[in-house]
Order: sequence, then structure tokens, then C-alpha cells
Amino acid sequence: MESLPIEPGPDDRAALEQAVSAFIERFIDARADAPVFHGAADPELVERLLTPPTEAGGPIGPLLELVTQAVDTGFDTASGRFLSYIPSGALYSAALGTYLGAAINRYTAGSHAAPGMVAIEESVIRWMTSLFGFGDGAGGVLLSGGSLANLTAVLTARSRLGERFDDGVVYTSERTHHSMTKGAWIAGIASDRVRLIPTDGRLRMDPAALDAAMDSDVAGGLQPMMVAATAGTTDTGAIDPLDRCADLAATHGAWFHVDAAYGGFFQLTDRGHARLAGIERADSITVDAHKSLFLPFGIGGLVVRNVEHLVDAHEGRGAYMQDVVDGDLPHYLSMGPELTRPNRGLPLWLALNLHGVDAFRRTLDAMLDLAEDAAARLGELPGVELITEPELSVVAFRSTDGDTATARIQQALNDSGRIHVSSTTINDRLWIRLALLSQRTTASIVDEALDLIKAATGRTC
Ligand SMILES: Cc1ncc(COP(=O)(O)O)c(C=O)c1O
Repeated sequence: MESLPIEPGPDDRAALEQAVSAFIERFIDARADAPVFHGAADPELVERLLTPPTEAGGPIGPLLELVTQAVDTGFDTASGRFLSYIPSGALYSAALGTYLGAAINRYTAGSHAAPGMVAIEESVIRWMTSLFGFGDGAGGVLLSGGSLANLTAVLTARSRLGERFDDGVVYTSERTHHSMTKGAWIAGIASDRVRLIPTDGRLRMDPAALDAAMDSDVAGGLQPMMVAATAGTTDTGAIDPLDRCADLAATHGAWFHVDAAYGGFFQLTDRGHARLAGIERADSITVDAHKSLFLPFGIGGLVVRNVEHLVDAHEGRGAYMQDVVDGDLPHYLSMGPELTRPNRGLPLWLALNLHGVDAFRRTLDAMLDLAEDAAARLGELPGVELITEPELSVVAFRSTDGDTATARIQQALNDSGRIHVSSTTINDRLWIRLALLSQRTTASIVDEALDLIKAATGRTC
């Protein structure tokens, strides 16, 4: 068989598309019952997958066969049974948007190059800034995820100090996501200029400790540069006291950032809106559409109260860009570390406008209900304790018989192939997390998880 022409004609395109969409149909239909955990990959398969590309190319059938085998390894993050880490819903509508955006391949770094596509992306950014109560002058940029957004926030906060920032200090909680401290490190902030503030009994940043740390630094001649609160920690979904953090940041003239990568879009719900009170006072907010908007991986962002700060921190052009024309729409190339970037706006815009915002609100509300219900039922199980009541949709629990028994419960869940959970360590104890954040996660899946937990505790009620 001849290899595929580098620019395929209509017949070849139709055949390829049919093969890929048949694959996707089978894949999605199988999700409800497919094992969520396959374990490690067979070394022979890994060898085959590591084969370098062929000189001659070949038909798509055998390649999709390899993809099928590759998919059946590790854990299935597209499954509603995947309750580990922070799940992603892998929305089909957004996957189509990614396909569309890649085929169109417009250059969304500069608005002069793709004003229509940038307007589509900007409509989503404006929706987000108004969701968080930002007014005129706000803006933002879509990035690959929370890590890049947190880094971009640190770079923005740092740039307000000018080129010398040795005295600037970053404050975040001891339960912060590691991308926050990693972002500070990449931004050149020494580790002795990062304070990990202790948390209270509900694992939220302790404002009194934050206050004391800031006062002590000021007395020592240092300059509070950034307070980075978390709205929905990865461990337990805890929300730092945002209003108090905002007050303290304002008192010391520090940038107030909120890492809402996981928790941010719960703002759409009444309960989430109430719990995230104070987020509207942030200078910058990290959000991840590939978390709480259920999109496939690779779409997060940073929104800021005053877009000029973002541009001040990231503007930079070469002579080869002298034809760039400035207009009313933003140049995303001036708002983050990236220049050329994938079209992230299109999948987000397509998903929001196909399903409607209310569909996302209702799905997030359902996740809060599932978490409340799971927590109530776990709390009643003999031999099980919760770390706290869930603030969002992560429920962390352990066996009262200790870490070995807790590890046994986790293993029983994961070995079942029906449910996948991850663990964390808090206060030197092992905790299992049920993270409920996929539109494919249903009440019956949570029932199944609870039945497995009950059986694994080895206790009778
Ligand atoms: C609170 C929080 N911040 C940041 C991140 C990093 O996001 P990403 O994995 O999209 O880079 C995560 C990831 O789980 C997170 O939970």
C-alpha cells in the first residue's frame, strides 16, 4: 500500500476521518464499563511503541490498533470511575473544538493575525473575568494549565518590583499545589523568600500566621511581594480565607493571587459562589478548564484584575515582528511566556455554547451533592474517619486502624479495576481522596466506591 500523501485528497481525508471517529465512538461507548486501571504496560508493548517512525509510512488501521493497546495501560482519566488526583471530564464537544482549531490552525498569539479567533477566545476570557467580579481593565490568557498560570502569576507579581527582586517574599500555605512553589523557583525567587504558612484545623491558610510572617519580614527589611491563596486545595479541596488574605495583601501592598485551578468554576454554583467569597478581590486567578469545566487536558488560564500588569510583565518583541498591528483586541503573545500557541479558545467556546453555561453549573452542583453524600456515608462507616467536611468535591478519609489499613483500602479499590483513587499525606498520616469532578461520575459509581470501601474496612455495621 502506498503511503499517505503529505497533503491528502478528499477520499483519503474521508477514510482517515471515518477510521478515527469509529475509534472514538467505540472508545466513548466502552467507558462506562471499561476497567479504570490497567496497571503497568507490558514491556513488549512498550518496546513496540518505542519503535521509531517508519521511512515509508503505512495505513491507519494498524496504527489505531497500537493506539488501542496504548490506551489500555495505566489509568483511565477519561472514565467517570477515575476519582484520583483532580479528574478531567474529557468533554467530547471540546475534543471536537480542539480538532477544529488544529485543522484551522490560525495564529492566535497576535490579534492582527487572527482577529476572529482571538475575539472567540476573548469572549471566553471576558466571561471568566465577569464570573469573578472583575470590572473594566480586566483580562487574561489561556495557558496549558494551572502550572503555567501560577508561574505567569508569579512573574507578574515579581515584575512590579522591577529587575531586582531579592527582597520580595511570596506567601502561600503549606498545602499549596507544588506548581506554586515551583513557579516561584522558576521565576528566580530563592527558597528563603517563600513562606509556607501553616494551616488551621480545616487545612486552610491560617491568617494570623500569615499576618505574623508578613510583619516579621517587613521588620527584617524584606518586602511582601505576593500572597498566593488556594481556592480548592488538591489534597482536600480546602479554600483559604480569601477575604482575610486579601486584607493582608492589601495592607502590605502585595499582589493577591488565588490558585483556583481546581475550585474556580464552582463559582458558577450558589454554594461555590458563597464559599469562594473574596475571590473577587484577587489581582490574579488561576483557573483550569481541564478541571472544573471538564475539558480535555491542556486548557487552563490566568485572569487578572488589571491586564496592564500582565502585559508589563510579558511584553517583548523582535524586529521580525515589526508588522504586528496593535488594535482593540489583545495580543496573547504579550500576556504570558508563550508565543506560538494552540487554539485553546475554540474548544472552550464551543463546549460552553453547545451545552450552555447552565449545564456546567448543574454538573458542578451535582458534584457538590455527590461529595456531601459520600462524606455523610463515609462518616457513618465504622473504622473510617474524614479529615474534614468537604468544602468542594474532594472527600479525604482514612482507616482509624492506621496507615497500613488505609493503604489496604486504597489497594482494594484500585485492584478492583472499577474505581481508581489516589492518596496524600497530611500531618504524617495517609489519607485516601475521592475526587468527584467528571460529568461521567454518577451516584452509582460513588455507591460502588462506598461498597468497596465498606468491604475493605473488614468491619460490619
Ligand atoms: C490547586 C492546583 N493548582 C495547580 C495545579 C496544576 O495544574 P496543571 O496540572 O494543569 O498544571 C493543580 C493540579 O492538579 C491543582 O490542583
